[in-house]
Amino acid sequence: MKQLNYIKVEFPARSVNEGFARAAAAAFAAQMDPTLEELGDIRTAVSEAVTNAIVHAYPDRVGLVQLRLRILEGNVLEIMVRDRGRGIPDVKKAMEPMYTTGGEERSGMGFTIMGSFMDGLRVRSTVDKGTTVTMSKHIQVKANG
Ligand SMILES: Nc1ncnc2c1ncn2[C@@H]1O[C@H](COP(=O)(O)OP(=O)(O)O)[C@@H](O)[C@H]1O
Ligand SMILES: [Mg+2]
Repeated sequence: MKQLNYIKVEFPARSVNEGFARAAAAAFAAQMDPTLEELGDIRTAVSEAVTNAIVHAYPDRVGLVQLRLRILEGNVLEIMVRDRGRGIPDVKKAMEPMYTTGGEERSGMGFTIMGSFMDGLRVRSTVDKGTTVTMSKHIQVKANG
């Protein structure tokens, strides 16, 4: 699909940057004239993916997180979150609802939430190389504007 516009940002995997990533994604997506509901979905999905990179990818160092958003032909927003961290040994299992390696304070619902708020969700991961989460969402075309 043809790419019409994009942003790419990189930041250290610190929890303070999760809010920035969420706001940056929403600000970029605004040019597609999303509804408040669509915007909320985008913010939530980005928040879950970026939080995972911050919380799970780098157990013993502050690595880097890359966020890329693309607007594709046909009013599709694609969101990619990438880390170069420890990777996920079994992606299928990690994506099951309530599966977590994070202990008590994690719900294990991150991937389930991403999948339900976005139209497409793909996770690619290699142990010790990192994880790339790619999500896509079709933004409804407004009748008048
Ligand atoms: N970027 C990542 N790097 C390494 N492991 C990850 C990453 N994202 C997710 N995981 C693994 O997948 C599991 C499930 O993720 P998720 O559904 O978001 O639930 P939670 O974050 O609450 O554990 C995590 O507990 C972790 O083991
Ligand atoms: Mg999570």
